[in-house]
Amino acid sequence: MSETAELKLGDQKIDLPIIVGSEQEKAVDVSSLRAKTGFITLDNGYMNTGACTSAITFIDGERGILRYRGIPIEVLAEKSTFLETAYLLIEGKLPTQDQLENFTNRVRRHTMIHEDIKRFYDGFPRDAHPMAILASVVSSLSTFYQHEEVRPDSEQLSLDMVRLLAKLPTIAAGAYKKSIGQPFVYPQNHMSYCENFLHMMFSTPAERYDVDPVMTETLNLLLILHADHEQNCSTSTVRMVSSSKANLFAAITAGICALWGPRHGGANEEVIDMLLEMRASGDSVKKYIDRAKDKNSKFKLMGFGHRVYKNFDPRAKILKAACDKLLARMKISDPLLDIAKELEEAALKDSYFIERKLYPNVDFYSGIIYKAMNIPTRAFTVMFALGRLPGWIAHAKEYGEEVGNKINRPRQVYTGPTLAEYIPINNRV
Ligand code: CMC
Repeated sequence: MSETAELKLGDQKIDLPIIVGSEQEKAVDVSSLRAKTGFITLDNGYMNTGACTSAITFIDGERGILRYRGIPIEVLAEKSTFLETAYLLIEGKLPTQDQLENFTNRVRRHTMIHEDIKRFYDGFPRDAHPMAILASVVSSLSTFYQHEEVRPDSEQLSLDMVRLLAKLPTIAAGAYKKSIGQPFVYPQNHMSYCENFLHMMFSTPAERYDVDPVMTETLNLLLILHADHEQNCSTSTVRMVSSSKANLFAAITAGICALWGPRHGGANEEVIDMLLEMRASGDSVKKYIDRAKDKNSKFKLMGFGHRVYKNFDPRAKILKAACDKLLARMKISDPLLDIAKELEEAALKDSYFIERKLYPNVDFYSGIIYKAMNIPTRAFTVMFALGRLPGWIAHAKEYGEEVGNKINRPRQVYTGPTLAEYIPINNRV
């Protein structure tokens, strides 16, 4: 007999089913609670609420574990490529050689954007935030690829997924080129995914540009580490929008917008801004730590803390090593890195951070690496979006294929006025 949880509400006792995940995670299924008792559950910020079951990514925040489809992130970081990882997330298993070649070729064939899309860039202000451009242009894809309702397991959906994976680097590099007034660089389909992106970012028609293999390798690693992270804010947004049966381009646009905020993907940009401010001010690391601890100050140490990881962020551990290696290989000595290291050491020894289990997260090191790669600070979150895309797609697909899926529609506890009178405008005070 399956386990149940007994809930007592006044005189009423009800049994609620317990759902056990494949890693023995347990959840009380409250979906029948309102029908049986009239009560709903309230959980601000979803601190304790499972919004769905999912077979894509497993995280154990206490033990610092992250696995895509069962495979540890450390193994994928060492052995995989971004497109292979994307296939794994989206299709549920590692591809065979033929499957990978087929998938890679499909992505290659769709890297160009419609020439008319390029004109949209002319309308954006030169100083537009690249995340705003990214979201707008991705949204515009649904004007070029219009179809009636797309079935979850259809060729059409598969094509739209490939289009997104193929075009996002082109769109992102275009946003950068626009910001510096250089011409767009067309994709080069003989190049690998990462090489092609770096070429579109940094080459110009005027000069030969050879992509540095160290940069390609580092980008591959960064994208793999960001590729999925189960029900985070942007991914939940993608699932939420998909649940209304909006098209995939619309759902991914919503995910990009959700990622933009500084509490989520926008933190990598804020980390560099914080380190630059620290360097410019000349203030001690201790002063910034004290500010972060001060309840009267709104300041937080950007790149520290995580809703799920309460031990260490396994992605940050891999990136810390990659960061040291990259800077050594590129012979870069960056004073910001020295400040970052000092900050990390000081925070890890401080009881405030220890008690609250606040450790450096993925954004702490990714910002420093992007800076070393000459990616402009304002484009950091765009890089996060490039990495997270396969995860968003995998979740939209998983949601679409779920038998009996429902529109996501949370409830609320209303705290506004009770029945109120409509007062004519002249009588209002
Ligand atoms: N600096 C100083 N204090 C902090 C920080 C920080 N970075 N993060 C959390 N705290 C404190 C917070 O004030 C609270 O203290 P108290 O219990 O005394 O009220 C306690 O730690 C718990 O924090 P919380 O805000 O309730 O935790 P949360 O799970 O709601 O928020 C977070 C997680 C990531 C939004 C938050 O830690 C934060 O704002 N960090 C800085 C932004 C950042 O680096 N975000 C990137 C997250 S990783 C990439 C991604 O997944 O998007």
